[in-house]
Amino acid sequence: MFKRHRRLRANSTIRDMVRETVLNPNDFIYPIFVVEGHNIKSEISSLKGNYHYSIDMLDDIIEKVKQLGVKGVILFGIPDHKDEVATPAFEENGIVQRAVKKIKALAPELYVITDVCMCEYTSHGHCGIIHGHEVDNDDTLEYIAKIALSHAKSGADMVAPSDMMDGRVLLIRNILDENGFKNVPIMSYSAKYCSAFYGPFREAANSAPKFGNRKSYQMDPANVREAMLEIEDDINEGADIIMVKPAMSYLDVVRLARDRYDLPIAAYNVSGEYAMVKAAAEMGYIDEKAVAMEMLTSIKRAGANMIITYFALDACKWLREE
Ligand code: PBG
Repeated sequence: MFKRHRRLRANSTIRDMVRETVLNPNDFIYPIFVVEGHNIKSEISSLKGNYHYSIDMLDDIIEKVKQLGVKGVILFGIPDHKDEVATPAFEENGIVQRAVKKIKALAPELYVITDVCMCEYTSHGHCGIIHGHEVDNDDTLEYIAKIALSHAKSGADMVAPSDMMDGRVLLIRNILDENGFKNVPIMSYSAKYCSAFYGPFREAANSAPKFGNRKSYQMDPANVREAMLEIEDDINEGADIIMVKPAMSYLDVVRLARDRYDLPIAAYNVSGEYAMVKAAAEMGYIDEKAVAMEMLTSIKRAGANMIITYFALDACKWLREE
């Protein structure tokens, strides 16, 4: 006697009925890159199908996001000047702050998340304050908190610190609470690995470090128990949502976090993961739609509740085609 597992795979009706993981537009968060200037919509060469937008050009893309049913976007700003302490990141009239206001005016119901970090705004490209060649944890914290507060003041629905300094969730929670933003949640990039998969993003955001690397603050790809410690601390410091990043090479981390913690989990399907699919599809080696949907399904199956992905809009279109 053996079990005939194939009975439940016999046709698409029964396959639909027993499917365990089903993607829908609510799963996706779409990253948007905003630049200074006017009348700019230029394709990001490393992230085909994604664009740099000046604020006056956001209308169409926001309309598209809404029409496709995506509920949230995460904003990245590329300022036109940088300095040692990332001043343009916390200016009241900074690029992200203005973009948030514009998007909330265009689509009040669209959920606007902001990436809270310094690397796009520092002349040295690191995610914090530099002393010598070291990124100083404690000196960075007040800047990260200031950036988060300025995003909340501009109307961000949620802030997402991606700098990997220890203690930042606690400081952000405190500063938000003290300033009347008790209800603004924190989505923490808790287990953010020092990954080569961020390459295309750094080109898109002009945020590659000018010296050294991020190994002293982002996590070693070899470690998973350490990720649980990071997540646990972020939860204790007040994170509302925890994130694992990147997604594809870290599905074990997503699964373990899902089994251990009850908070919503976000996974970031990062730029390199996207660019590899695009490049291979362009070469005719793989079927872009099938591979992308299989990847997104696997991220959800591993336990992610939210998937930040450059495929968000295409995935919604593909779901409609099915
Ligand atoms: C900012 C930040 C990075 C990404 C998201 N936020 C880059 C980095 O840490 O170097 C990467 C996203 C992607 O690769 O898609 N710190």
